[in-house]
Amino acid sequence: MIDKRYANKRGGAKTWSAGSRKWLASWAIGCLLQYSAGMADAAVATPVAGVGQPAASLQVVHWWTSAGERKSVDVLAGRLAEENIQWRDLAIPGGAGLGASKVLKSMVLAGKAPEATQLNGIVFGEWADLGLLLELDDVATPGGWQKLLFPTVWSLVHNRGHVVAAPLGIHRINNLFYNKKIFDRLGLAAPRTWPEFERVAEKLKQAGVTPLAQSSEAWQVATLFETLVLAESGPVYYRSLFVDLNPAAFGDPRMTHALKRLRSLKQWMPQPLRERPWPEATRQLADGDAAMFVMGDWAKGELLAWGLNTDQDFSCAAVPGTADYHLYSVDTLAMFAGDYSHQPAQEKLAQLIMSQPVQSAYNQVKGAIPVWRAPDLSKMDSCARASWSAFSKGSAFQAPSLVHRMAADETAKDAIVAEVHHYFVDDKMSESDIQRKLASIARSVSKTGKQEQ
Ligand code: BGC
Repeated sequence: MIDKRYANKRGGAKTWSAGSRKWLASWAIGCLLQYSAGMADAAVATPVAGVGQPAASLQVVHWWTSAGERKSVDVLAGRLAEENIQWRDLAIPGGAGLGASKVLKSMVLAGKAPEATQLNGIVFGEWADLGLLLELDDVATPGGWQKLLFPTVWSLVHNRGHVVAAPLGIHRINNLFYNKKIFDRLGLAAPRTWPEFERVAEKLKQAGVTPLAQSSEAWQVATLFETLVLAESGPVYYRSLFVDLNPAAFGDPRMTHALKRLRSLKQWMPQPLRERPWPEATRQLADGDAAMFVMGDWAKGELLAWGLNTDQDFSCAAVPGTADYHLYSVDTLAMFAGDYSHQPAQEKLAQLIMSQPVQSAYNQVKGAIPVWRAPDLSKMDSCARASWSAFSKGSAFQAPSLVHRMAADETAKDAIVAEVHHYFVDDKMSESDIQRKLASIARSVSKTGKQEQ
């Protein structure tokens, strides 16, 4: 039975539609199956803020566990502590939130929803529709969020006329990080096209340096792949694949090219290619074991946390062919409705997150850019400024990350990521094989596909 505490703020106790009940039932089964594995991964909850007895506390579920990510959490927890609110930390390890999303679902199902959670992407809508999320209009309306936010971010946190999450920062995924010292020593410039990339990679190899850092972990491979799709085609085609899930788009020659590019990049990666967490792949770049790395700019947060400096030790360029575009992922904290006893503290956290000083301080350490349309540019390094300029060009230049939950729901994302990973590790799988499989996934999950059947 659904706990009545999870009631919509304005509508009172939520009336559960047949659709919602069906959704929740299938969700419940999935969660129960994953529950023990998920909880085993969970880090022990450790308070990171507040000395003495704070007046209020908020438990926050998230997956920020690397050095740079911890520093960003400390910014938030520290500001909250100044308001006499304790941030009770529940960090679930696992890049891209694979562990955290399972644990979070289990907690909600067990009636133990945290007060706040990192909840990225279009999943908001589903959770908000179920009446689980606290509506933040009482903070967002007087705070003028609609005017302050980039329109893309505003529409992301907005569900059926209500604000249901507080946005923290915008990550750019299509970054090509490079080790500045190696590039300077060898007289190389960041490649802007794929032929330039090949020339640079060849020179690095001749100099005994692995050209491209990479892990074989599925989401990291798929993160690289989505940048290649964008490079091949631009945002319109990208959206037809990952937002519209148009089955026909997966058969397109542009998809074949992006897949071939993914496979051919393997020759420049460390051999044998191991599955390692993203901070370890970032470490290869920092230590000069590899000269380039394609990753979301949380990797920049990591490099900075290790004491490296932008444009001295490393620099950022766009993945070749994507300089005009911004492949984005927006980090947000959503608040669970609960019994409303935490509401003042939850609203305070939302208000802090959207304040100019927190936006600046948090994003500098996280590696992202503020969600404000007009942030303090003086606080940004060259990587952040490039990201901000690309994102500011508007939605025609933006592409929502599939892997980081901005484009499609969890089911579609997981199925596509698994197939791309399969293709990447198994050289015997042909492009036409995977294209057929991806089209069939799209057909089974998309509206377009269902209409075609
Ligand atoms: C999140 C980032 C996080 C990264 C690595 C992404 O999905 O948006 O905040 O740093 O995963 O775990």
